[in-house]
Amino acid sequence: MQGTTPPGARTEQEAAAYVQRMFSRVARRYDLLNHLLSFQTDRYWRFRTALDVEPFLRRPRSRVLDLCCGTGDLALALERRAAGDALLIGGDFCRPMLEEARRKQRRRGARIEWIECDGLQLPFPPGSLDLVTIAFGFRNFANYRAGLAELRRVIKPGGMLAILEFSTPPNPVFRALYRFYSETLLPALGGWISGDRGAYTYLPESVKKFPNAERLAAEMEAAGFTRVRFRRMTFGIVALHTGLSG
Ligand SMILES: C[S@@+](CC[C@H](N)C(=O)[O-])C[C@H]1O[C@@H](n2cnc3c(N)ncnc32)[C@H](O)[C@@H]1O
Repeated sequence: MQGTTPPGARTEQEAAAYVQRMFSRVARRYDLLNHLLSFQTDRYWRFRTALDVEPFLRRPRSRVLDLCCGTGDLALALERRAAGDALLIGGDFCRPMLEEARRKQRRRGARIEWIECDGLQLPFPPGSLDLVTIAFGFRNFANYRAGLAELRRVIKPGGMLAILEFSTPPNPVFRALYRFYSETLLPALGGWISGDRGAYTYLPESVKKFPNAERLAAEMEAAGFTRVRFRRMTFGIVALHTGLSG
């Protein structure tokens, strides 16, 4: 379990730089493609995530980070369920994605702070956050163990980590169908609309290499998270992992 290994990247720094450049290129078309390629199911995945973490959003003066927030859809879904005194922060290391998030926030009048930050070196003191969520970002980390250790550092004892990520469908028939879709139709469609076939070839490749739900849960436990659970959604295409710090 190391981290993502994009084509041509020989070091963790090169892997992170590849990911940053890739999301910068697709930022303007990211939302459209997300909704289109998932047949709008991505909206349900984020809705379900926000619902599952709601008790942490409603803690008094809760401090919440949506890491790898991208264009901000999960942060906005969290904000709708948060208590009035909660502090919501969206963090990402890709500026063009954050610019899209800011644009969306202005339209909706949401109260979220956006910061440019690297998930492997978070600008927060130890034990300062009640909840950290990450949707479809953790898989792109250059080092998964270092990422989990950093998340553990910033979450308060008793606070929650929630990782929503693509996973491996357990049913072999559905897995084969999904592989066909994600390895043939998805790169063709995604490449055509975004003008960046590389980004939509990287996506299924990175999902294939990513640990399955059981393995990710074990890694979270090894990193010190307790009461680790996962909920598969849409036949196991994605899984929501949750765990408590400390
Ligand atoms: C697939 S997008 C997901 C965006 C959003 N969470 C969503 O649900 O649509 C992944 C995001 O993770 C960000 N990301 C990847 N690695 C990161 C890291 N190490 N630190 C901060 N952001 C990172 C990328 O810049 C990108 O915006």
